[in-house]
Amino acid sequence: MKPLAGKVAICTGSGRPGGLGQGILHKLAEDGADVVVTDLGRNAELLDDGDIGNTDEMETTAEALREHGTRVLVRPCDVRDPAAVQALVDATVDQFGRLDIMVNNAGVGFVMKPLLELKPEDWDLVIDVNLTGAFYGSQTAAAQMVKQGGGGRIINIASQAAKSGFPHMAPYCASKHGMVGLTRTCAIDLGAHGITVNAVCPNHVTTGLGAKQNEYFAKFRGVSVEDYRAALAARIPLGRPGLTDDTANAVAWLASDAAQYITGEALNVSGGEEMH
Ligand SMILES: NC(=O)c1ccc[n+]([C@@H]2O[C@H](COP(=O)([O-])OP(=O)(O)OC[C@H]3O[C@@H](n4cnc5c(N)ncnc54)[C@H](O)[C@@H]3O)[C@@H](O)[C@H]2O)c1
Repeated sequence: MKPLAGKVAICTGSGRPGGLGQGILHKLAEDGADVVVTDLGRNAELLDDGDIGNTDEMETTAEALREHGTRVLVRPCDVRDPAAVQALVDATVDQFGRLDIMVNNAGVGFVMKPLLELKPEDWDLVIDVNLTGAFYGSQTAAAQMVKQGGGGRIINIASQAAKSGFPHMAPYCASKHGMVGLTRTCAIDLGAHGITVNAVCPNHVTTGLGAKQNEYFAKFRGVSVEDYRAALAARIPLGRPGLTDDTANAVAWLASDAAQYITGEALNVSGGEEMH
C-alpha cells in the first residue's frame, strides 16, 4: 500500500517545467495521491514577465503525471485572489470528494533590487503572492479539512530566506520569514482538528526561478554563473545545491502518517547550509 493512497493533494504554482511544485506533485503521485496541478495559467498575461507557469505548461505537467496512472485535475488559480482559491478547493472536492494535503508553493522570486530602488508595487507583488497567497491557501484548505474531518496536512514552501537575510531581496525575505510565522500560528489554531502545518525551507535549487537568481547574483558579484554556482556549492556542507527531489521528499514525508506528530516546524532542506 502506497503511503498516500486515497489522499488528495493540491500544490499551487505547480505548472512550470522544472519547478519545485512539479517535483512535489510527481513525488506525491508516486506515493499514491491524486493531485491538482494549478498555476496562473492564462492569467500569466497579468504579470509582464516570462517567469510564470502558463496553461500549456500546466497541461504538459498533468499529462506526465497521468502517464503513471495518477488521477489529475488541472485548474488555473491566482493565489492572490481568495475567490479563486476557494474555487480551486471547491473544484478539487467536486472532482475527488476531499482535500487532504495543501502545498502552498506559488512564489515570486524574480524581484531582485537594492533596497533603495524598491518600489511599493515590487513589495506588494511579492508579499501578495508569497505570503497573502499562502494565507488564503491555508485558510481555505483548513476550512475544507475541518468540514470533512479526519485531519490534514498544510505544507508551506518557504526558503532559506525564511531564516537569513539575502542581498537585494527584502520583500522575498520578509515574505518567507512571514510564512514561518503563519505556519506556527496555523499549527496552533488547527492542531485540535488533527491538521499539521509545517514549512519547508530549501536552499538554492536551479529551477527557472533559481536560474534567474544565479544570473542576477553572478552579475552583481562580477563573476560568471559557473563560478557563482561553484562558490555556492563550496559553502554547503553536503557539497551541492538542492535538487527538486530533496524538497519533494521532505514534503512527501511531512504529508505522510510518519510525520503525524510534527507540526509548526520550519524544516531546512539545505545540505547543512542553514542550521537554525
Ligand atoms: N528555486 C529555489 O532556489 C527556491 C529556494 C527556496 C524556496 N523556493 C520557493 O519554492 C517555490 C517554487 O519556486 P521555484 O523555484 O520552483 O520557481 P518557479 O518559478 O518554477 O515556481 C513558482 C511558481 O509560482 C507561480 N506563481 C507565481 N505567481 C503566482 C500567483 N499569483 N498565483 C499562482 N501561482 C503563481 C509561477 O507561475 C511558478 O509556476 C517558491 O515559493 C519559491 O520561493 C525556491
